[in-house]
Amino acid sequence: MQRIIQSIHQGAKAGVDACRLCHGRGHGLPGLEFVSVDWFSPVLLISLYKQPAAEWLEQLRSEIGVFNKQPNIKNIILQHRYLSGAPSENLKGDIQGDYYAEEKGLKFHLNFKANQNIGFFLDMANCRQVLREHVEGKSVLNLFAYTCAFSVVATEAGATKVVNVDMAKGALNTGRRNHQLNNIDTRPVSFLGHDIFKSWGKIRKYGPYDRVIIDPPSFQAGSFNARKDYQKIVRKLPGLLSARAQVIACLNSPDLDFAFLRALFSEAGGFVEKQVISTPPSFPEADADKGLKTLIFEASR
Ligand SMILES: C[S@@+](CC[C@H](N)C(=O)[O-])C[C@H]1O[C@@H](n2cnc3c(N)ncnc32)[C@H](O)[C@@H]1O
Repeated sequence: MQRIIQSIHQGAKAGVDACRLCHGRGHGLPGLEFVSVDWFSPVLLISLYKQPAAEWLEQLRSEIGVFNKQPNIKNIILQHRYLSGAPSENLKGDIQGDYYAEEKGLKFHLNFKANQNIGFFLDMANCRQVLREHVEGKSVLNLFAYTCAFSVVATEAGATKVVNVDMAKGALNTGRRNHQLNNIDTRPVSFLGHDIFKSWGKIRKYGPYDRVIIDPPSFQAGSFNARKDYQKIVRKLPGLLSARAQVIACLNSPDLDFAFLRALFSEAGGFVEKQVISTPPSFPEADADKGLKTLIFEASR
């Protein structure tokens, strides 16, 4: 518990970018494997992935009171992700109005009320940075786009075209609003609200692409199962890519390792691995194979 309180004291400061303060899920903090603490100034979000013991919860509620008088923390939200619908409770303040994740001068809408995912993935910060550095003048396909954070970064950094594909139309609408929020011209940006597996023809029509991002869920009932479906995406890539195109391939399943991801590209053929994108230092993993894995592959023809 002290680790949690200490991380909040150290990291929950006004004016800093959105970040993870405590990554118990990386299995480096014994006894805290079910907890993560994130800072979206001025909101502190504590997420629980397993039902804690009643005494633990009681202690958390009591100790978190130390921040009641701290003005830079306006809201403290406790999200119970192990319960259906991932309900949240306010430990400080009342969530009303608009909230944003801020990162490197860009803003992204957050929704603490509706879903389990709030609209922005902190662990993707390094991927966004790598994209930012290599996207000027490039055309981009953003598969599993969600709220289009990669698209916002890419267009802001000078991409000529971005095609976002996600079957969740509500998330794509937030994606459109994320571009507007940052005064980004959406004319070169497309938002395709489709199941990727039923839309290859349309996706190909918008191509070819110089950069492709693949960031699927590990498992989503009826929509995506990384173990059997990831290979279907990789096999489609050759028909979508321009010469020497680069693919940012992400895999977030604790049960599938780096070797799984590498095997998919080597089986498909025509790719050379260029780079491992590490997770931000605030996401330490006891076993890198169990955390987020991201590799860049370049088309060799
Ligand atoms: C992990 S999120 C993507 C996060 C996003 N890349 C980001 O950086 O914010 C996964 C997304 O995949 C979408 N999805 C899952 N299966 C899909 C499918 N078969 N076709 C299209 N979208 C799908 C979900 O709607 C969800 O928005």
